Amino acid sequence: MKKFNWFDWFDWLTNTTNSTIATNTTTGKNMPKKKSFDLSVNLGKLKLKNPVLTASGTFGYGKEYSEFVDLNRLGAIVVKGISLKPMKGNPMPRICETPCGMLNAIGLQNPGLKDFIRKQLPYLKKFRTRIIVNILGNSIDEYIELAENLEAQGIDAVELNVSCPNVKKGGIVFGTDPKIFRELIESVRQRTSLPLITKLSPNVSDIKLFAKIAEDAGSDVISLINTITGMSIDIKTGKPRLANITGGLSGPAIKPVAVRMVWECYKTVRIPIIGMGGIISAEDAVEFLLAGASAVAVGTGNFINPKATMDILEGIKTYMSAKGIRSLRELTGAVKC
Ligand SMILES: Cc1cc2nc3c(=O)[nH]c(=O)nc-3n(C[C@H](O)[C@H](O)[C@H](O)COP(=O)(O)O)c2cc1C
Repeated sequence: MKKFNWFDWFDWLTNTTNSTIATNTTTGKNMPKKKSFDLSVNLGKLKLKNPVLTASGTFGYGKEYSEFVDLNRLGAIVVKGISLKPMKGNPMPRICETPCGMLNAIGLQNPGLKDFIRKQLPYLKKFRTRIIVNILGNSIDEYIELAENLEAQGIDAVELNVSCPNVKKGGIVFGTDPKIFRELIESVRQRTSLPLITKLSPNVSDIKLFAKIAEDAGSDVISLINTITGMSIDIKTGKPRLANITGGLSGPAIKPVAVRMVWECYKTVRIPIIGMGGIISAEDAVEFLLAGASAVAVGTGNFINPKATMDILEGIKTYMSAKGIRSLRELTGAVKC
């Protein structure tokens, strides 16, 4: 017999909108159902049961957090960036703490596509959640090969990490050159029918331009923001704190920048937005929704509190209840300005 699970029950109760009567599964009798919320989200053709996702690179491949989080309750798991071949990453030290945030220069360390498919994917597929794979390549062909192989494996969507250098085009970073950025998205779009999420880099002068290109080139969704390039120096030694010298800043320090960028993109494109950057509480998440996000991803917040995703999901429900909001979709872009 299937084991009774409180989390499933609560999810079911809060996700059911059509009926006002629920059946008591123990007695079989009808009972008045609590007023319910609709937390479901449509990211183009990708349907999620709730808006809380993990941000790539901060939640491993799910297993690492399974002691703290019921993975079935996540809207989606976005896994750490995967490349065709394994990558060793940058030399240590590659993480350092900064006021209200952290700098990382992990260097996209990952086990590569084959290992991911063999060792990580079977575990992830056991859960009733969406699997989104963040992919990275050094050429357009590598992105295409990744997307095609992953589509054959039955994942739910790919997220393009465009913060990688295009080796064939002299090392220019995909996400900061409008021409290469467009070419990449159009090329991947032609070769996969998977929902395509393009993750925008904040290290550009006008993020709206890139949001529009992503939409025109065939992205179903945009996600933002990736980390902001930063640097920290140890004044005792006079040396940079990271062996790589510079790294990506994440955590609460970047939240106002991220919220501003989500708001700008919301006014620019019609495709849905996954907002992220410094979300550690439900209040932060709601801020992103009001700015225009349809869903949110929790990154560095997972390092502070491994249960952050679950606390944020509960907090969003509490907020909706207090405000008398029945459908999460009412929140998207509802900022009053
Ligand atoms: C340690 C670490 C590893 C990351 N790895 C990836 C990655 O593999 N692919 C990617 O697109 N973003 C990666 N990111 C960026 C996050 O997904 C997220 O966009 C960024 O950290 C901002 O969100 P946050 O402030 O909530 O962490 C990484 C971030 C951190 C801190």
